[in-house]
Amino acid sequence: MSECSGCPSASPDGGCSSATGCDQQPVDDKLNKTLGRIKHKIVVMSGKGGVGKSTVAANIAVALSLAGKKVGLLDVDVHGPSIPRLLSLKGQTPHMGVDVMEPVPWSKNLSVMSLGFLLEDDRQAVIWRGPVKMGLIKQFVEDVMWGDLDYLIVDCPPGTGDEPLSTLQTLGPTAMAVVVTTPQGVAIDDVRRSLSFVGEVGNRVLGLVENMSGFACPDCGAVHNIFNSGGGEDLAKEAGVRFLGRIPMDPAVARSGDEGFPFVKVSEDSATGQAMKAIIDPMLNLPDPPKMA
Ligand SMILES: Nc1ncnc2c1ncn2[C@@H]1O[C@H](COP(=O)(O)OP(=O)(O)O)[C@@H](O)[C@H]1O
Ligand SMILES: [Mg+2]
Ligand SMILES: [Zn+2]
Repeated sequence: MSECSGCPSASPDGGCSSATGCDQQPVDDKLNKTLGRIKHKIVVMSGKGGVGKSTVAANIAVALSLAGKKVGLLDVDVHGPSIPRLLSLKGQTPHMGVDVMEPVPWSKNLSVMSLGFLLEDDRQAVIWRGPVKMGLIKQFVEDVMWGDLDYLIVDCPPGTGDEPLSTLQTLGPTAMAVVVTTPQGVAIDDVRRSLSFVGEVGNRVLGLVENMSGFACPDCGAVHNIFNSGGGEDLAKEAGVRFLGRIPMDPAVARSGDEGFPFVKVSEDSATGQAMKAIIDPMLNLPDPPKMA
C-alpha cells in the first residue's frame, strides 16, 4: 500500500509490519475520519463480570435507536461476546470488502459489530495477547463502515484491562464511560477502580448505573428491596460522578436476554422499563462534544 511508503514500520512487500498495527499518520487519518462521523461515544464498562454490562449496553443502543437516533453497537468482549445472542443476531456474518467490513443491521437505525460474528464456533475459547486485542479494537472502529452515527455504544469485558484501555484510547478523550455496578460491596470496590481508571486514561464518566438493585416482583409489580440497595448511589456521590439510576433484578430482563428480545422494546411500561428509560433519557440530550482537532 502506498500509504506505508516511507514509514519505518513498512514491510518489504509495502504493507505494515508493526505487531500492534500502524501507529503512523496515514492510518490515524482513517481513524480520525471515522471518529469524526460519530457524534457521541459511550463505553459501557465495569470492574466486575456478570453485573449486566452487556444487557445495559444492548438496551441503551436499542432505546436510542427506537428514539430515531442512528446507533452503532460494538461488542469488544473478545472472550465472551454476548451481543449477538442478546439481539437475536447469532449466526449472522458481516459483509467483507477489501479492507472494510459492513456492520450487521439490527434495524434501519442500529448496526452491530461483534467478534462473535467472526468466530465460527462461539464456544471456542479465544486467547488474544494484549497487542492483538489493541489492534483488533482499533480495526473494529476504523475498518467497519459505521457511517454517520449519533451514538456508538461499546460493550466492554469486565475489568480495567486491555480492552477498555484500548477502547478509550482509540475513541479518544471525548468518549464517555457508563459504569455498571451491583449494590453489593464486592462489586462496589471493583467499580471504584473502574471510575478512577477512566479518569487516569483522560476520559469522563457519563454516569453510574446500579443494576440488579432490588427485585421486581412478578406477582405484585412492586420492587422489593431484598438485598441492600443504594451502594451505587453512595459510590457515585463519593466519586463525584452522576448517578444515572437503578435497575431492579427482574426475571423478565433475564428472559428477554435469553430470548434475544431487548427488554426496552418489549416491556417499557413495567417498573423496570421505566427505570431503564430514566437511565437512558439523559443520553438522548447530551450536548454536542467539541470537535476534535
Ligand atoms: N436487571 C436484571 N434483572 C435480571 N437479570 C439480569 C439483569 N441484568 C442482567 N441480568 C442477567 O444477568 C446475566 C449477566 O448479564 P450480562 O449483561 O451478560 O452481564 P455482563 O456483561 O456484565 O457480564 C444475564 O443472564 C442477564 O440476563
Ligand atoms: Mg458482557
Ligand atoms: Zn411482590
